[in-house]
Order: sequence, then C-alpha cells, then structure tokens
Amino acid sequence: MKKDLLKLLDLSKEEIIEILNLADQMKYNLKHGISHDVLKGKTLGMIFLKSSTRTRVSFETGMYQLGGQALFLSSNDLQIGRGEPVEDTARVLSRYLNGIMIRTFAQEEVDSLAKWSSIPVINGLTDFSHPCQILADLMTVREYHSALEGVKIAYIGDGNNVCNSLIVGALTCGMKISVATPKGYEPHADILKFAEKFGDDFSLVNCPAEASANADVLYTDVWASMGQEEESQKRMKDFAGFQVNDEIMAGAHSKAIVLHCLPAHRGEEITAEVFEKHANSIFDEAENRLHAQKAIMALLMK
Ligand code: CP
Ligand code: NVA
Repeated sequence: MKKDLLKLLDLSKEEIIEILNLADQMKYNLKHGISHDVLKGKTLGMIFLKSSTRTRVSFETGMYQLGGQALFLSSNDLQIGRGEPVEDTARVLSRYLNGIMIRTFAQEEVDSLAKWSSIPVINGLTDFSHPCQILADLMTVREYHSALEGVKIAYIGDGNNVCNSLIVGALTCGMKISVATPKGYEPHADILKFAEKFGDDFSLVNCPAEASANADVLYTDVWASMGQEEESQKRMKDFAGFQVNDEIMAGAHSKAIVLHCLPAHRGEEITAEVFEKHANSIFDEAENRLHAQKAIMALLMK
C-alpha cells in the first residue's frame, strides 16, 4: 500500500481487493462486538472545504471505533482558509497528527498536501475524484452480486468526480462499465485515456437506455455537484432524459440493484419511486462508507 490514498488510478487490483477484504472484516467485527482498536492513541485531522454528512460522520465515528480520535477542521477556521500555503499546513499537521483526510476542490491541492506531509493523506472528495466513495460502492456490489468480475454497471448522468472514480474502480476490478452522459458532460480526459486499455469492458454513450441495457447495477449522482450551483438551471435542461426511472430500470437486468452516492435529488437524476424501491442497496452503500474507510485508515495509519 502506498503512503496516501489520493485517487483510484494509483491503486492496483490487489490493493483494492485488500481494502475490500479488510472492510468486510471491519464490518463483521463491528456487528459481532469484536474489538478492533488498531489505531489506539492515533489522531486523524479532517479538513473540509465543502459540505459533508456521510464523509464527516463516517470518518469521525470510524476513527473512534478504531480506538483513535478525529478532529474536524473547517476551512473557515483554519489559516489555510486565509491563504496559509498548503506546504506549510502539511508540515505543521504532520507534527501533530497521524493522518489527514481532506475534501476540497482541486485534486492538485490534495496531491500537494500529500507531497509535503510525512503522514498519510486521504482524499475525501475533489472535483476530479471520490475514491473512498467508490471503495464503499465496490464493497456493496460484492455483497449483492457475490463478485465483481464480469458484473455490468451502468452510470447515468454527469461525468463528474464520482463517475471518474467509478470507471477506474470498476475496470480495475474486472467489471464492465457503460456510461451515458449528455454531450459536453463526459468524464475527465485522463479517465477516458485509462479506460481505452479495457476495450469492450468500457463504453461511453449519449443514450441512457443503451448504457443501462442488461446492467446488473445502475448508478447515478446529482446533476450539479458542489461548486456548480450557479450552473444548476442550465444543467437541469441539459440533463433532461438522463433520469434513472422505471423505463430505464425495465431495460436493466431483472435483479439489478441501484446505487447512489447521496445526497439524492428525487425527481432529477432519480425518481422517488426507483429510489425507495432500491433504498436497501442505497443505504447499505452509505453504511459501507464507514467500513471501507476504517479499512483504509487501518492500512495507511497503523
Ligand atoms: N457521498 C458523500 O460523500 O456524501 P457527503 O457529501 O455527505 O460526505
Ligand atoms: N458529485 C457530488 C458528490 C457528492 C458526494 C459532488 O461533488 O457534489
């Protein structure tokens, strides 16, 4: 395992499987009251430049369950919010903490924090990627379909951070992934270049019905991500027809599950009916953030 978790492009299939296996173990231990305080006495700093419910609560409680503690560091309060350079923040925090989780805008900021830190840095979402989310998603797919190899996932909507990481995670683990986005909202060029190597296991189309045909997993995310609120109105128009609804579900495999990283906007990227019908898999996915991140922290910070 490398020092940091910055993006899934940095992980091999073996490393991803190691995280998923440990996450399953963490979940088992928690449910059976088996102690797993492997990070006793350690502290995680959590820097947030964007809002969060799941990431914040699952990292904080996860760290507590591992025997350590977590500090919530809002950019409103940190000197970083007033312009203190990332390279200084990194070197200072490395003297106090055992690990840093950061949620911010530019991927480069996370990369730079990791470069200047002597402690592990974990990406809790950037505009480019959301690796912790996708590790929890892969864990969930494995729970429902028993394997990842050969399972077909369809992503419908915006070619955003979640989509970028999903493509990398799915292909690395031997899944097939088909992505449908409106024109102009395709995944990042680096991701498309990575996906080229996987031949027919990857496809990018502009037709949701084509992407979702016979899919085992349907995945969607908001049409306007954090920081894109001003473009919301335009996006609502551009994404018309890219909703996960009964019609899309009818073309998918009859046992298909639905995943959504949340928060969800019912009536936009997903109908309330489809969301509620598949609430079990969606909330298992949210729960699995806790177990997957505990595995990541244990592997990086022990
Ligand atoms: N899915 C996810 O990362 O949720 P939060 O924004 O609530 O952390
Ligand atoms: N794409 C969304 C994911 C939120 C967890 C965003 O970046 O806002």
